[in-house]
Amino acid sequence: MSSEQQARVYQPSAEAVSRARVSGMDAYEALCAEADRDYEGFWARHARELLEWQTPFTQVLDESEAPFFKWFADGTLNVSYNCLDRNVKRGDGNKTAIIFESDDGKVARVSYADLLVRVCRFANALRDMGVKKGDRVIIYLPMSVEGVIAMQACARIGATHSVVFGGFSAHALRDRIEDAGAVALITSDGQFRGGKMLPLKSIADEALDSDAAKSCKNVIVLRRTGADVNMVEGRDHWMHEVVDGQPDTCEPEWVGAEHPLFILYTSGSTGKPKGVQHSSGGYLLQAAMSMRYTFDIQPDDVFWCTADIGWVTGHTYVAYGPLACGSTQIVFEGVPTYPNPGRFWRMVQDHKVSIFYTAPTAIRSLIKASENNPDCAPTQYDLSSLRILGTVGEPINPAAWEWYYENVGGGRCPIVDTWWQTETGAHMITPLPGATPMVPGSCTLPFPGIQAAIVDETGADVPNGHGGILVVKRPWPSMIRTIWGDPDRFRKTYFPDDFKGKLYLAGDGAVRDKDTAYFTITGRIDDVLNVSGHRMGTMEIESALVAHDEVAEAAVVGRPDELTGEAIVAFVVLKGARPTGEAASQKVKELQQWVGKEIGPIARPKDIRFGENLPKTRSGKIMRRLLRQLAKGEEITQDTSTLENPAILDQLKGNG
Ligand code: WT7
Repeated sequence: MSSEQQARVYQPSAEAVSRARVSGMDAYEALCAEADRDYEGFWARHARELLEWQTPFTQVLDESEAPFFKWFADGTLNVSYNCLDRNVKRGDGNKTAIIFESDDGKVARVSYADLLVRVCRFANALRDMGVKKGDRVIIYLPMSVEGVIAMQACARIGATHSVVFGGFSAHALRDRIEDAGAVALITSDGQFRGGKMLPLKSIADEALDSDAAKSCKNVIVLRRTGADVNMVEGRDHWMHEVVDGQPDTCEPEWVGAEHPLFILYTSGSTGKPKGVQHSSGGYLLQAAMSMRYTFDIQPDDVFWCTADIGWVTGHTYVAYGPLACGSTQIVFEGVPTYPNPGRFWRMVQDHKVSIFYTAPTAIRSLIKASENNPDCAPTQYDLSSLRILGTVGEPINPAAWEWYYENVGGGRCPIVDTWWQTETGAHMITPLPGATPMVPGSCTLPFPGIQAAIVDETGADVPNGHGGILVVKRPWPSMIRTIWGDPDRFRKTYFPDDFKGKLYLAGDGAVRDKDTAYFTITGRIDDVLNVSGHRMGTMEIESALVAHDEVAEAAVVGRPDELTGEAIVAFVVLKGARPTGEAASQKVKELQQWVGKEIGPIARPKDIRFGENLPKTRSGKIMRRLLRQLAKGEEITQDTSTLENPAILDQLKGNG
């Protein structure tokens, strides 16, 4: 580390160290050493301590069908039992499980006892409809108590849920229903976000007007906005009607630890999103374990993870982790900027939030907003309840880290910069708040037990100080089990032959510091973009663009963006003449809307440029590196001698 970097090491405060479960680096190192000595014993100890098993496991890690690893395979449990009944039985029935705040600021509290009853009633309703163990259920709901209830109810009866983010289009929803072969869909009439009322049911109707309807026989609709919706006789049911009169109890379905708890679709480097399949036992173990070690969750904490349940962060740190630890958490329906950009801080103050977990993109937008509107700055609020801050989803730039540390955390609260992925299920590389000295922009060191490393193209370790490919050397309990319906793609994507099938390939580049061995993530090494912490495949956006009648060809790249981390830039060749001026602006808007409709607003290119062709090599390969330079507005420095048609570079600089 250079002396300049050395100056920027932040030690956790003496108070953070003294109260933390993992107190000091010695304690962290002792956990790592325990895992080194006896890898299976380390995970088995935690699995026994943190989860309640119906049938105790006798096997820990089964590598016989690698890379299709199994954990605790002969043990049985129920995830919903572990999240709800267990807390009620130990006397926490009256404890608040969820503090829900709606978009318009109404607050509702749900105790563990209430939540259990509501989950049981809903689980009974699903069973009455014939939904059974192993069936897939799609959940297309806004942030709501009912969203958590729907997920927990599926877990209770052993149905595998697949939550689709409420911002995804009918087309994206349809693909997921079909790929999963879902038997039921849970949605709502609509949603409120930032004072606006948005539809959901009508989008679901459009998705079901297709082959998706073949498998999906039941649609359950939450009444949220009161908007008029079309209810299809025999298929559609109001949620409040189907739960009415259901018994308050529901015998959990005891499932094997490997039973698929959920499938969550995420973008990869090819056009089709991947259904990442997670287990029950191993997944819940690391959800609970990271709540305890990374967030040091204690009984009196108020935990708030701002992620939507449509993303993995909302699975592990809203729907499962906090409940598995019997914590009180916030579920927030709205957006950080409504009714003003002080919303998050006002809520932290009012609900006395002690652990706050959000994305760098939100932090960056709130920095900007509080510069423009000083009344909404975090320093205007009483944030003294906070003790730990977290970030996730993309690299955090040191300036944003420092602002978060000083202005939100008052210089007292450790920040855990947690690196992980949909596929990893839980935190993989992160500081522990009472142990790890922090360096802004670095996710620091592996979670105890996780064997993260950096290698070259041959799979050989690279020395610290040199960049390379981020891998994980040993299977871990909450890892992805397969890609739903495509085991071959799973193996090729994550355990490629280049590494003899032995290393988990994360898809990120990283570097370790020469002295501290701290990890810093340098970004994706595949064709995946990270826009506001959301993963988007460039091919997925390209396929959406070429699905438009007038588009002949499209290439999509990322460009660094101050607010969203990366922004989407599309280079498009139309079938007709290349538009310029006003015609080009019109076409840009039309194509942005088109992509919004095909995938969802988050996939809309920020910038679209038209050319008569794309820069290609003589063998016809699109030169993406060149496009990245053009997207940034940089002068082309690289060799263009292999380029078939150098003249089009000028066209692609802008729509002049
Ligand atoms: C990708 C995974 C994990 C939940 C949210 C995103 C990037 C994630 C960090 C971090 C730098 C990060 C990586 C990763 N990423 N956390 N702390 N620092 N980059 O889940 O959609 O599966 O995306 O997000 O590129 O591969 P995801």
